[in-house]
Amino acid sequence: MSIFYNENDRVFTLKTANTMYQMQVSELGHLLHLYYGADLGDTVTDYRLVSVEHSFSGNPYESGFDRNYSLDTLPQEYAGYGNGDYRVCALKVENPDGSEIVHLVYDSFEISDGKYALAGLPAMHGDGAKTLKIVLKDTAGHLEVELLYGVFEERDVITRAARIRNAGTDTVTLREAMSLQIDYPKQDMDLIHFYGRHAMERMTERTPLAHGIHSLESVRGTSSHHHNPFVILCDHDATEQHGDCYGYALVYSGNFKAQTERDQIDQTRLVMGIHPAHFAWKLGENETFETPETVMAYSEQGLSHLTHLLHDAFRSNLIRSKYVESPRPILINNWEATYFDFNEEKLYGIAKNAKEIGLDLFVLDDGWFGKRDNDLSGLGDWYVNEQKLKGGLAPLAEKIRGLGMKFGIWIEPEMVSEDSDLFREHPDWCLLQPQHSAVRSRHQLNLDVSRKEVRDHVMNQIFRVLDDCRIDYVKWDMNRSIANVFSAGLPAERQGEIYHRYMLGLYEMMERLVSRYPDLLFENCSGGGGRFDAGMLYYSPQIWCSDNTDAIDRLKIQYGTSFAYPISTMGAHVSVCPNHQTGRTVPLKTRGVVASAGTFGFELDLEKMTEEEKAEAKAMVQEYKSMEHLVQTGDYYRLSDPFKNEDYAAWQFVAKDQSESVVSGVILRGESSPHIHYLRLQGLDGSAHYRETESGRVYTGAALKKAGIPLPTGLGDYRPVSMRFVRVN
Ligand code: GLA
Repeated sequence: MSIFYNENDRVFTLKTANTMYQMQVSELGHLLHLYYGADLGDTVTDYRLVSVEHSFSGNPYESGFDRNYSLDTLPQEYAGYGNGDYRVCALKVENPDGSEIVHLVYDSFEISDGKYALAGLPAMHGDGAKTLKIVLKDTAGHLEVELLYGVFEERDVITRAARIRNAGTDTVTLREAMSLQIDYPKQDMDLIHFYGRHAMERMTERTPLAHGIHSLESVRGTSSHHHNPFVILCDHDATEQHGDCYGYALVYSGNFKAQTERDQIDQTRLVMGIHPAHFAWKLGENETFETPETVMAYSEQGLSHLTHLLHDAFRSNLIRSKYVESPRPILINNWEATYFDFNEEKLYGIAKNAKEIGLDLFVLDDGWFGKRDNDLSGLGDWYVNEQKLKGGLAPLAEKIRGLGMKFGIWIEPEMVSEDSDLFREHPDWCLLQPQHSAVRSRHQLNLDVSRKEVRDHVMNQIFRVLDDCRIDYVKWDMNRSIANVFSAGLPAERQGEIYHRYMLGLYEMMERLVSRYPDLLFENCSGGGGRFDAGMLYYSPQIWCSDNTDAIDRLKIQYGTSFAYPISTMGAHVSVCPNHQTGRTVPLKTRGVVASAGTFGFELDLEKMTEEEKAEAKAMVQEYKSMEHLVQTGDYYRLSDPFKNEDYAAWQFVAKDQSESVVSGVILRGESSPHIHYLRLQGLDGSAHYRETESGRVYTGAALKKAGIPLPTGLGDYRPVSMRFVRVN
């Protein structure tokens, strides 16, 4: 049993392998949050609720003359707006009379086997989960809220979502409907979050929680390059190996907010969910709205363990692809090799060379369709550009398959170019308010995929190509932020639903793709990592991590991404030097080591490589194939912080059974009279012996962990580090 209800105390307790989550129905019927953290056995943590009067924090009428009971200071599970709780709230509505008050009180609960499902939304799934549903009712009778908790006992994670139903007869408008609210008592904590920009995504920032509201958000229509829908709250002194850490990942790929508020008495509230900007969802009688899901994990052993919990949960209970833990074809992508300038001969030449170095999959990126010779035109016309590819796509695919390779293509289904047949035929199919001029971005406009006819048209075109060419792989891109939003498919009073309807439409398109082609290897992309979130992982086992392929910048990008998302989900390619994004030159082997900490691939003109480089690339491919199982199923450890350490970056994969480990990294700069840097390894069995495969030298696990191992010395910047340890007894 992992869900308990204690009738006497009116306490709900959720238990996973090592955590406990507790709530209590107060004497006035409010659902209070008591505790989330390490398992405390049979403790009822209501002793932590201390009632003291705080002036200017009012009291619900039902509390009579008790001036200590205030919703402004009590920890709550899902706070409604307008009841004298002045903190950020979970639910805000517009009632039929125009008021915005929601006062939620406990009604009932239900415990069931299996995991609740959310219609049309990505979510964790799998055997062994249990669901707790707690029903709250608005005292005015307008709304009923089901708080949904999915308890994955063995995985040690809990999920949350809310289902909101109009229990009255008149229409209610949802203005804010969060997926999660969690209240912490006074506790000094840091917030770790992941900000960035195009080609520099998921930079890591750690700040003490300051008073007031700190909002991490996207209103771009995608989860965005700029903020990620994942945050960590942790002890001030938490490190990779020590301290209390909480991770919260929103399983959603559109507008979101993650807000922390440190209140007047230093309590902290976190809310996460769909961003309220341009959000107004109409609920008619008996209609329901389901929020996206949040995945929560807690570690009392620091950040590494938190990462392992999330990686394991996402690999086993979120990503559905058959590739999630099986060898992925290693790909060559032609984008940085040719951009739009290619023909069949050029592509075949690259493919032949790719085969020689042991690659498995040829990916034809942007430019194979419509009138697409640059980024001014062609999006929306998903039929082959026969001027470029004379015999069409199917013969090219066959020729490449003849080499013994798989064949994949790039698509960008949510977009339209003004210079396209699609736009000429259906100018009203894009998201555009006609009295305002369009906002162009990369010269393109967003299709209104909230509309079924738009989705059907695009997907049918794409399915025709996929069927014709028996495509093995698809890269789904999304290359702009949404702006100037208006849908010709919705009436005025429903325009506030457009962003979320767009997401539901998008998820439906992806669902159709993966269910029609269950063997397809599907990679997501949004100008690199603009939609790198748990929502997308439900559909695709890998996401192109960043358009920045510079191995040194990637150290920071992949470091930030690793906190929540499995290493095997990060598309990482070896590209040419000087690098196209930064102009930096980094040794080939180093580029290989960095790309091996991800879904490894190549993205350069292999025809231009020297024989020596090809031999090195071939060796890299073999090396990756021999360690891929660790990338896919092992535990990942960050051994350095690239935001602090200017000397080296290092990381480590360890097999779950501690039988082997790969340690990789980059020595960032050559030094005269060099320091000797020692890496203290993690995750090994201290009492076992391990052989370092290159030198043959045997170490105890304890020595590798406690005494450390010196990094190689030598001259030059950006030198690769790559060591492998195998347990000998
Ligand atoms: C985006 C992607 C790139 C490439 C181009 C093609 O920027 O992130 O990898 O596919 O589009 O236009």
